[in-house]
Amino acid sequence: MSDEAAIFVGASDVDQYLLLKYGNRHGLIAGATGTGKTVTLQTIAEGFSAYGVPVFMADVKGDLSGVSQPGGDNPRAVERARQMGIEGYAGRTFPTAYWDLFGEKGHPIRTTVSEVGPVLMARLLQLNETQEGVLNIAFKVADEQGLLLLDFKDLQALLQWLAENASQLTTEFGNVSKQSVGTIQRQLLMLDQQGGEGFFGEPALDLADMIRCDAAGLGTINVLAADRLMQSPRLYGTFLLWLLSELFEALPEVGDLEKPRFVFFFDEAHLLFNDAPKALLERIEQVVRLIRSKGVGVYFITQNPLDIPESVLGQLGNRVQHALRAFTPRDQKAVKVAAETFRPNKKFDVAQAITELGVGEALLSFLDTKGVPTPVERCLIAPPQGRIGPVKDVERQAVMAASPLAGKYDKAIDRASAYEVLTGRVSTGTQTTPGPAAGGTPRRRGQYGSVPQTPPTNPPAPSGPWGGRPQSPAETQPPSQESESPRVEPRLKKAQGPAPAPVPKAPAGRQRDSIGVTVAKAASRSMATIAAREAAKAIFGKGKAGSIGASVGGAVLRGVLGSILRG
Ligand SMILES: Nc1ncnc2c1ncn2[C@@H]1O[C@H](COP(=O)(O)OP(=O)(O)O)[C@@H](O)[C@H]1O
Ligand SMILES: [Mg+2]
Repeated sequence: MSDEAAIFVGASDVDQYLLLKYGNRHGLIAGATGTGKTVTLQTIAEGFSAYGVPVFMADVKGDLSGVSQPGGDNPRAVERARQMGIEGYAGRTFPTAYWDLFGEKGHPIRTTVSEVGPVLMARLLQLNETQEGVLNIAFKVADEQGLLLLDFKDLQALLQWLAENASQLTTEFGNVSKQSVGTIQRQLLMLDQQGGEGFFGEPALDLADMIRCDAAGLGTINVLAADRLMQSPRLYGTFLLWLLSELFEALPEVGDLEKPRFVFFFDEAHLLFNDAPKALLERIEQVVRLIRSKGVGVYFITQNPLDIPESVLGQLGNRVQHALRAFTPRDQKAVKVAAETFRPNKKFDVAQAITELGVGEALLSFLDTKGVPTPVERCLIAPPQGRIGPVKDVERQAVMAASPLAGKYDKAIDRASAYEVLTGRVSTGTQTTPGPAAGGTPRRRGQYGSVPQTPPTNPPAPSGPWGGRPQSPAETQPPSQESESPRVEPRLKKAQGPAPAPVPKAPAGRQRDSIGVTVAKAASRSMATIAAREAAKAIFGKGKAGSIGASVGGAVLRGVLGSILRG
C-alpha cells in the first residue's frame, strides 16, 4: 500500500485503512445493538479529527460524549490495542464542541423558520399534500410581503392572518382552507410541546462554528446530544436533514480534495428514511450524491442495512459491517443483502461471517487508492483514544466553558454586538492536545502516534469560514443602512382597507438584529457561494427569494443579491 494519508480502522492479517482522499465517498457502519458500531464510529471520527477534518455526530445514547476526555485506560480498549499490536497506544483528547437543540447538554442550535423552508417544515409537521400546499402559500406570502419568518410565533401569526384572509388569498394563490391552517397550527403546538420551538429563533447556527480546527490543527468533533431529541424522532430526522442541506447549500464545489472538508455521521439513519415520501427520498439521494463534490463525507450508522434505500446504499464507498443476527426471515434477508454489497473474498463465506462476528469485530471494505472497493476483510476494529462512554457533567461544563463558542449561542446576547463577535473572533486555540506517548515509533500509518499534519483544508480564517473570497458588495454595505429601509406594506392589507386582522410583523428590534447577524453571514459567503446556495435551494424546494430574502432581509436582498436573483 502507498503512504497516502489514511485512518487506521482495523486489521486482519493486513491493516485496513480508510483513505483520507476518499473520505468524501461516504460510508456505512451497520450491525446489531452491542456489536461495536458506536466505538467504530468514534475510532473513525477521531481519525478524521487527527488529520484536521472536523466532524459532526449525533450522540444518540450519550456514549460518544467521552471523546473530549482521554481514554486509553479502558481495559477492553487496552486489550484490543495489545491484540492488534498498536504500539504506543495511549489516551488522547479531541477538541469537542457539544451541541443540544434543547440547550441543556450543549450550545443551543437554532435556525429560522425560513431557513428550514416549507418542504422540511411540512415533513416536521407531518402535513399531507393539501396542508403542505397551504404552508407553501404561507411562505410565498411571507416572501412577497417581505415578512421575516424566524420563530414559531412568526409562523403562527402568519397562519392566523392567512386564515382570516383565506378567501382573498385563495383567489390569488390557490386554495387556503381554514381547516388546513387549523391542522398546521395544531401540529405546531404539538411540536412546541415536544420542545421543538426552541430550535427556531436566533442567533442562528453559523456553520463555520462547526467547520473548524483547534490551534493544534485537529478537527473539531461536534457532538449533538440526541438522547432527548430521539424521543421526537421526526424532529431528529428533520434536524439532521436540515443540517445536511445547510452544509450542501453553504459549501462551494471543490471537486476531489486530499481530505474531506467535513464529515457527517448520521446515527440511527433509519429515522431519516422511515415513511419518507418518495419526493423527499429522491432529494436525500440527490444531496448525498452531490455533496461529495463539496468535500463532505456522509456516514450512515444503522442496525440493518435494509433500512437504507438502495439508491443511497449504492453510494457508500467505505463500509463497516458488524455482526447481524439471523433469527427471522427479515434478519436473514438483511444478512444476505449486507453480504452481497461486499466484494467477495475467497478466504471466507461473507454471509456466514456476518453472523459470527464478535463485539468490536467487523467486515471492512474501503476504497483503494484507485477508488475501487477492496475485497472484504474480517477485522478487529482499532480502539479509540478518547474515552469510550459518556462524559461527566462537570467535564462537559468545563469543555463548554473553554470553548471558543462559549456564550455565543448559550445566552441571549445583545445582537447589536453579534456582528463584532462573529467577525472579530479569531481561533483562541484554548484546547491543547497532549502529544502521543513518548517512545515507540508507530510502525503503521494512521492516527495513532504522531500524525504528520497535513495543512487544514479550511483553516478558520478571521475573514470568513470559506477561505479566500473576492470582496463582495455585502462587505461594503453598512448594515445599519439596510435595517432602516422602509418595509413594504402588505398589498393585501391595502386592498382590504383597514384590516381587522393584524398583519404579522416581526418586532422592529428583532428584525434589525436579524439583519445585522445575517449580513455577517452573507458577508462570510462569496457571491459565487451564494449563487451556488441559491441553485441548491431549488433541490430542497425553498423559494429562492424565500430563503435568502427572509434570512438576509428584503433590503439586503435588493441591495446585494438583486442582480443575481433577477438574473
Ligand atoms: N473496537 C473495540 N475495541 C474495544 N472495545 C470495543 C470495541 N468495540 C466495542 N467495544 C466494547 O463493546 C461495547 C459495546 O460497543 P458499542 O460500540 O457501544 O456497540 P453498539 O453501538 O453497536 O451498540 C463498548 O462499550 C466497548 O466496551
Ligand atoms: Mg451504539
